[in-house]
Amino acid sequence: MGYDPQNPMKDRITDIGPPHYEQFFPPVIKENYGKWLYHEILEPGVLKHVSETGAECYTVRIGSARLISTSLINDYCDMADKHCDGYLRFTTRNNVEFMVDSADKVQALVDDCNAHGMMPVGGTGAGVTNIVHTQGWVHCHTPATDASGVVKAVMDELFDYFTSMTLPAQVRVALACCLNMCGAVHCSDIAILGVHRKPPLIDNDTITSVCELPLAIAACPLGAIKPAKGVNSKGEEVKSVTVNVDRCMFCGNCYTMCPSMPLADPEGDGIAILVGGKISNSRSAPKFSKLVIPFLPNNPPRWPETVEAVKNILEVYAKDAMKYERVGEWAERIGWEKFFEKCNIPFTDKSIDDYRLAYDTWRTTTQFKFTSHIK
Ligand code: HEM
Ligand code: HEM
Ligand code: SF4
Ligand code: SF4
Repeated sequence: MGYDPQNPMKDRITDIGPPHYEQFFPPVIKENYGKWLYHEILEPGVLKHVSETGAECYTVRIGSARLISTSLINDYCDMADKHCDGYLRFTTRNNVEFMVDSADKVQALVDDCNAHGMMPVGGTGAGVTNIVHTQGWVHCHTPATDASGVVKAVMDELFDYFTSMTLPAQVRVALACCLNMCGAVHCSDIAILGVHRKPPLIDNDTITSVCELPLAIAACPLGAIKPAKGVNSKGEEVKSVTVNVDRCMFCGNCYTMCPSMPLADPEGDGIAILVGGKISNSRSAPKFSKLVIPFLPNNPPRWPETVEAVKNILEVYAKDAMKYERVGEWAERIGWEKFFEKCNIPFTDKSIDDYRLAYDTWRTTTQFKFTSHIK
């Protein structure tokens, strides 16, 4: 039955939810559901799970760009049809996994994936797996940087860490293009975050008609916005707002509420780097990531400054941390003053918390290590 625009509610299907996942289980997964005994990582990108029935499931994980065409999805399906009876899955980090039920099917699958050119095998164990990221300039209206472009540039540079497992622990890299932080930047080992450095502009020609002014005022975490009379381009007085630019820290939240308060700016906008977050509870409690580099310029298409900064932190960590230590656990053990020194990152006042509960982040102890790093 085709959709009839004259009769929009006719034959309308709603509230049916997602299909039940069980119908997409490969047979070996369905038969051994809840019965798994142990697993091994056979090589980068290849896992083996063994069930109490003796059944085995081999999983081949491949990297994906997340933003992909239907033709690449078709290629995934062809690969699944050829090797896995038509079954596949996507991971929580947007990798793709192909599963087979015996060891002799693995090598042909791995070879086929590697031969494709857009299906690199890896992402397991103590390496760098896929970068959880956002929409950027592809789709969103509030970004301060791009997502797909920066992620491609960083993954190119870190590619050898995707296909190997040589780090002290897994390193999660995440990117968000504004500080709505869609995704995982607040809880990742290394986080790439789009930031603004200029206050919003106010368009008095449109603000009264397109904005719910109290919402814009209430959107500001610093109380920088006040109701005010404005003058439009015809010289008429209109209801508007003013922004106290000395209080504004360029979060962009007012623009999210009010389309007449844009703040994106090609020179002002760029990238901040945060490190040391984690979400697992193993060894230490989950941690938030912390600001270590306040600003790097947007430099499309390859963002060399950002790529260099991420690589530097990763490599200093790889050399200095102990086995199983995540980036945040390492930084806290050696002390943040030593983190800045070892990574040769200039410490700036921007890393000193000055928002409400800031006091608890300052040092209320004489315990510190001397460092020649801060001039
Ligand atoms: C105006 C606000 C927003 C719009 C228009 C929007 C729109 C979208 C769209 C279109 C996608 C799909 C992107 C794709 O297909 O690749 C998406 C994905 C997503 N959004 Fe939003 N979003 C908004 C705000 C948020 C916020 C505030 C959060 C989190 C705090 C969020 C979290 C996510 C996540 C986690 C995904 C999935 C990313 C992935 O597939 O890996 N979004 N959003
Ligand atoms: C108490 C609250 C939360 C719990 C218990 C929780 C739990 C988890 C766990 C266990 C994972 C790992 C899944 C895996 O490794 O397969 C995960 C991943 C993730 N979470 Fe949460 N989460 C919480 C809150 C949030 C919030 C508030 C956000 C976003 C604002 C978020 C965004 C994400 C994202 C994007 C991932 C995927 C990243 C990755 O796989 O490493 N989570 N979460
Ligand atoms: S992080 Fe910000 S700019 Fe990026 S997709 Fe989310 S809301 Fe849009
Ligand atoms: S950008 Fe953020 S801090 Fe600045 S006025 Fe808007 S809501 Fe307030």
